[in-house]
Amino acid sequence: MSKILVNVALPYANGPIHLGHVAGAYLSSDIFVRFQRMHGNEVMFVSGSDEHGTPATIAADRLHISPKEIADRYHKEHLEAFRNLDIVFDIYTRTTYPEHRDTVAEFFMDFYQKGLLSEHTMVSPFCPTDNRFMPDRYIEGKCPNCGFEEARGDQCDNCGKILDPQELISPRCVLCGTAPEFRETKHMFFRLDKFQDQLIKWLEGKDFWRHSVLSFTRNFIKAGLKERPITRDIEWGVPVPLEGYEHKRIYVWFEALLGYISGARILSERIGRKDYWKEFYFDPEVKMYHFMGKDNIIFHTIIWPAMLMGRGEYNLPYMVVANEFLTFNGKQFSKSRGIGYSVDDILKLASRDYVRYYMSSIMPEGSDADFSLEEFQSRVNGELIDKFGNYIHRMTSFIVNNNLEITSSKARPDDQDREALEFANERIRNYNSYMEKVEQKKAMGEWLELVKYANSYFNNAQPWRLVKTEVDQCISKLYHSLVLAQYCTTMLYPFVPSASEAMMERIGAAKFSERKFTVDLLTMDGSEFSPVKGEPPFEKLSLIKENPNFADLRIGEIKEAREHPNADKLYVLRVSLGDSEIQLVAGLRKHYTAGDLKGRKIVVIANLKPTKLRGELSQGMLLAADDGETVSLLAPIEQDLNAGDMVKIGPYTYNNSGKIDLEKLRTLELKVESSGERVIATASLDGKREEITAGGQGITTHRAVKAGAQVR
Ligand code: 2FM
Ligand code: ZN
Repeated sequence: MSKILVNVALPYANGPIHLGHVAGAYLSSDIFVRFQRMHGNEVMFVSGSDEHGTPATIAADRLHISPKEIADRYHKEHLEAFRNLDIVFDIYTRTTYPEHRDTVAEFFMDFYQKGLLSEHTMVSPFCPTDNRFMPDRYIEGKCPNCGFEEARGDQCDNCGKILDPQELISPRCVLCGTAPEFRETKHMFFRLDKFQDQLIKWLEGKDFWRHSVLSFTRNFIKAGLKERPITRDIEWGVPVPLEGYEHKRIYVWFEALLGYISGARILSERIGRKDYWKEFYFDPEVKMYHFMGKDNIIFHTIIWPAMLMGRGEYNLPYMVVANEFLTFNGKQFSKSRGIGYSVDDILKLASRDYVRYYMSSIMPEGSDADFSLEEFQSRVNGELIDKFGNYIHRMTSFIVNNNLEITSSKARPDDQDREALEFANERIRNYNSYMEKVEQKKAMGEWLELVKYANSYFNNAQPWRLVKTEVDQCISKLYHSLVLAQYCTTMLYPFVPSASEAMMERIGAAKFSERKFTVDLLTMDGSEFSPVKGEPPFEKLSLIKENPNFADLRIGEIKEAREHPNADKLYVLRVSLGDSEIQLVAGLRKHYTAGDLKGRKIVVIANLKPTKLRGELSQGMLLAADDGETVSLLAPIEQDLNAGDMVKIGPYTYNNSGKIDLEKLRTLELKVESSGERVIATASLDGKREEITAGGQGITTHRAVKAGAQVR
């Protein structure tokens, strides 16, 4: 038995967890941990919320709440989402915990005293209106490379160029629009350059890593390591324990990594074994695994080991596992663009077992993988249910219906049975070796092979014929079928834990009830069974025809508003949907000035049959709430959504069913309902009232209207 430390990248607590995150790190690490525990190893499994960083402060500034409030909300949500997916950490820490701040201060001061930090003067954007230095992301302006008007100070989203805020043409502060000044400011730098040789040496023994991780890291080091600034002029973050740094904070990445250690310390305190974490960090026999998405590699293969080397004594990572990306119907998952599913959304459509099963079978290990509902349904129905569940159901029902008592003492293995066990053992050996290397998709392939084999073994044995003529042989065949079922179920457990437990109970494996899932279940010795009868264990997935959302709702941005030439209540609007523009006619002249409309982000229904209103073409409709006194356009809560972003009704994105008319649209019975301090738009779909959301946030109104107001 050995100890294993498994650290998973701390997700930013500033938006919902989606399946892209799950595929990137969280599911793989949970599978790995369950597999290791099954083998009797003692695992410490750590993750938590990364609460700092500018994306959180930007979201907070926009919503006029504090970053802590954002983090509180998402910390709770993430924890719940993971639990709902059977992803169970030993500690899910937070980087705002005092223990974390203390750990960071301890490392920082140690580096400072050892000369691993140096101070330099930089030039940074300072907003004279807000009277503070602004993070690069808070400055926008024209891109010097492509001319895009809304380039950010760190990068242009249009051409992808990495930028310095000073390079922007006519830069402005995103909060107030003022042109920033560029002022001098002091910062601490971590001497990463000092670790170049040590890192190269450490990487020499890492040829068992995935090729992409290793070569990416080696190339990065080859380009030469430079010292990196690790403090920032911001208020939200871990304080810098130095005089003169009172208004600065530690750079989010530099402290979040230490969350692994502070998390382990907090866990140790909680279980009343204060020094427990030391067993994992200081005993060189203990292997430390890191899981993360591929955009986090450099931090874990260069900066983090350098920090541990700098500190001394600490173990270095043994293996760094990074998955590639998961796409949804070919597009990058994105919370803000509304592409793909959040964990909450997908769990409204299918059980966690199904989600885990499908995600495991397409795990983006060697290359990016694509999530599609069609494949989700066919994999679950065709493999997990038809091949695995039905096999166990047919076999156990047969045994119970025929009142057969199956014991190992009655097993009389013939050549065929020996061959079956041999085949199974080879699958198990491969499975174990893939699981050790974290090649989980391949391990699952071995499982599927064995499940298919078990099906044909059972079919070929024809127990329904043997039972009439040769009961002894029938019992022997069924015994071996049960052993194969026990293997299959055990191999499946790390991937699909709750369904595997239910299946194990169905076959009534005696070893299982004594010891739960252990590697023991992968040997035949001592296996006895008392199968129980039950309903078919799995319900088939039927997702595809079930998406009832016929409304193509999108975020639109009003580019121009002009008065309708022939109607004094109407405007003719030009509205951007990201990659296209449409013209809408809207009766808003009593409620909005043209100037007030321009630039506004609104919600548009984009698949309404086009019509002419008093001679002007209208290619859709915008949504506004009217409580009889006030009329307000619907608006996304977070203004960082882009024109064209998808708007969902409940868990459903638009089902691509084509153009609709007004009458069809009315069946949605759109209205706003109160939700906390604001109102949220809702629609009735298939007789159920669902919230309308974009980027994981409800759609609200920008003027106060009464709850219950109709939306038209
Ligand atoms: O990419 C992210 O979500 C980062 N918050 C990961 C941090 S990993 C480590 F530093 F904890
Ligand atoms: Zn400003």
